[in-house]
Amino acid sequence: MMHASRSPHSAEDWRENAYDLARGLAAYSGSRLAEGIARVIARHPDAKIANAFNHKQVGCKIWARDKLFDSVGASCRRVVVLGGWYGILPAMLLEDPRFDIEAADSYDIDPAVAPVASTLNAAFGDRFHAVTADMHALDYRSLNADLVINTSCEHIADLGNWLGLIPTGTRVLLQSNNYFSEPTHISCVPSLDEFRARAGLARVDFAGALPMNNYTRFMLIGTV
Ligand SMILES: C[S@@+](CC[C@H](N)C(=O)[O-])C[C@H]1O[C@@H](n2cnc3c(N)ncnc32)[C@H](O)[C@@H]1O
Repeated sequence: MMHASRSPHSAEDWRENAYDLARGLAAYSGSRLAEGIARVIARHPDAKIANAFNHKQVGCKIWARDKLFDSVGASCRRVVVLGGWYGILPAMLLEDPRFDIEAADSYDIDPAVAPVASTLNAAFGDRFHAVTADMHALDYRSLNADLVINTSCEHIADLGNWLGLIPTGTRVLLQSNNYFSEPTHISCVPSLDEFRARAGLARVDFAGALPMNNYTRFMLIGTV
């Protein structure tokens, strides 16, 4: 239960409304992710959860989930997500009954996001962990992942260099975009062909582009 001052139009007033709305959506849909969003609104007032869960972000992740199922089926047991932010994609995968995922963990370099991701995914118990780490400093062999996901490729300087750390034969799902005007996007790509060339995957099961209002999202599913 949130306790807020009742001054009209205050940020606290807005947050109280957002919390009630998210709880209503959770009750209506039965979604543990929606339940998690409500908990994040209550406990992490500084988290930019509305940005992370806006309709474009959700659209890109529904696209990822559907194309993953089309390409791979239900076969992935252990999933790791790099640059995982608030852990929304792991939650979307863990609550999708088409998949049979044992664990979906999220790694992010920003220490502020792990507590939020843990709150968001609390309903999944031990099937989710949020870890603060630089994706370039991980021992990928010891992670023993069936699937490595990075939907933040626009945030990493050298995609080929990072993919070189992942054991040969590992299945990957990668997203980037051509949203060059966002200052934190240090590594956008102008086209799907360029993304494919930079990734240099050994096998590509899916390559596609999803036009959004002011940018296009690109996705590759395949094997390193
Ligand atoms: C804005 S968010 C995610 C955007 C992306 N389109 C998405 O929703 O999947 C990008 C995340 O990548 C993380 N990140 C950037 N560089 C990283 C690195 N070297 N290792 C791990 N996480 C990193 C940032 O901290 C941030 O949380």
